[in-house]
This record gives sequence, C-alpha cells and structure tokens, in this order.
Amino acid sequence: MSVDVLDDLEAGELAVEFEGEEPEVVIEWAIERFSPSLSISTAFQTDGAVLLHMAYQIDPNIKMFSVDTGRLPGETFELIEQMYERYPKLQLDLLSPKAEPVNAMVKKHGPNHFYKSVENRLLCCQVRKVLPLQQHLAGLDAWITGLRRDQWATRSDIRKVEIDHDHGAIVKFNPLAEWSEEDVWDYVKEHDLPYNSLYDKGYTSIGCAPCTRPTQKGEDLRAGRWWWESGAPKECGIHCAIETGGLEHELRALIGDDSE
Ligand code: ADX
Ligand code: SF4
Repeated sequence: MSVDVLDDLEAGELAVEFEGEEPEVVIEWAIERFSPSLSISTAFQTDGAVLLHMAYQIDPNIKMFSVDTGRLPGETFELIEQMYERYPKLQLDLLSPKAEPVNAMVKKHGPNHFYKSVENRLLCCQVRKVLPLQQHLAGLDAWITGLRRDQWATRSDIRKVEIDHDHGAIVKFNPLAEWSEEDVWDYVKEHDLPYNSLYDKGYTSIGCAPCTRPTQKGEDLRAGRWWWESGAPKECGIHCAIETGGLEHELRALIGDDSE
C-alpha cells in the first residue's frame, strides 16, 4: 500500500461531496486517483455488472476481482464467460482460497458443516472468502464495492467513500450506496447487461450454491442467503468484522497461526 491514501477526514468530506452524485462520478474520481492500485470487487450479481459497465467505459483497463470460494453455482461461471465476450479487455482476478486451511476444515467438519451452526458457517466464510479477499486487498490502495444502503440493516449507513479500517485503512468506494434494487435492474435492462440466470429462477441475492436459495414474494432480498439461520447477521465478514466466541482460536489453528 502506498502512503498516498486518504485519511478519515478527507474521506468524510468527499463522501459528503459525492452524496447525490451519479455513481460514474465516484468511479471516475476513484480511477483517476488510485488506478492501477484499485479494483472492483464483484460476486457477479447485478450490482457488479453495473459497476463494471460504468468503469469499463471510463477505463477498459479497470481491474476487477472476485473470490471463487470453490462452492459457487455453475450459473456464475456461465456469466463470467459472457462477461469476457462483452468486455474483451476484462482484467479479472479470480481468487481461490488456500488449499491447506480448506482441506483441514473439510477434513475436520465435513463439506457441508456450515448448516450445523452459525460458528461453522462463519468459519467457512472466513476460510473460503474473507481470507483470500484480505490477502488481495493488502496489495491495493482502494477497492470498489456494490454495497447499497437498501440491502440490509448493517448497510443502511454506508458512505460512498470510507476508510476501510478492517483492511489496512485502504479506501473503500461504494458508488451505488444510494441506489435501489430497481435502479440497478433499470440500468441492467437499459444497457442489456449480461446477468446471472439464477435471477430468472427467483433468486434475489446470489452467493455460494449451498448457502443461497430463491426468495418468495414479499421476503427480504437477502432472505435466501443462509436461510436456515435465525438471529445471525446476513453477512459473511468481508464488509464488517464479525465477532464469534469460538471462531478465532479454530481459525488460527486452521491457517497455522498459533500466536497469542
Ligand atoms: S456478501 O457479503 O453477502 O457475500 P453481497 O453478496 O451482498 O455480499 O455483495 C456485496 C458486495 O460485496 C458486492 O457488490 C461485492 O463488492 C462484494 N463481494 C461479495 N462477494 C464477493 C466475492 N466473492 N468476491 C469479491 N467481492 C465480493
Ligand atoms: Fe462457505 Fe456458505 Fe460462506 Fe460460501 S457462503 S463460504 S459455502 S459458508
């Protein structure tokens, strides 16, 4: 990470300045200031499709990354193929988790242990998703996400520019913060963007195959994520550090860090 990142005060002022501005304004500013040490994070949902389309028009060399947890649905890979056709210069880093902790976790708990308890689920999210993401962010000065305020209570107060203290105090841009689900879909349709075919089967938020199911009419958009859990945050830990009593020790053991 370079020393040229923003501090909290500058980020706060910028966030105020960008409130009410179109996402492209934020993306263009981020590219000018931070590219090539900037990357769009995507889970290949509609928000990621919108961000890529906007950014690619400003700079086709924009970088994008996604964590391939090893449990993504086949439909997501079909979409990735379509994206390469649509965006010939696509610079996509598809990140895998390290084999050792995944092997150790599966050996100890079995492949579908996430259904057994919230701790198990969070452990899996840490090993398969959060750690590879952390490692990738350590090499960047800034990242762009598709987070929106209307997605979940934990996201209702996000700003368009934040200092990401969970990830080395790099800059986090959330250009779609003010948008609604409808705004995203309007953009997708207007620009005929490729999207995950699971949306046509009733999915309204898409993550790993075993942890995502379609939602019913009237249900929350994220209700299909980790649907068997009650009273747990519908978060995996990449956007907010999640405290769980039993997790830390086991996680350190899995990644071979027995410090403390
Ligand atoms: S999650 O935390 O529940 O999985 P969600 O699916 O709502 O997140 O996506 C919100 C934003 O998090 C996405 O727009 C993207 O910026 C980032 N994100 C989610 N999953 C991934 C992933 N697998 N790889 C990279 N970024 C991701
Ligand atoms: Fe594991 Fe499910 Fe989290 Fe994917 S969403 S990393 S399969 S617990």
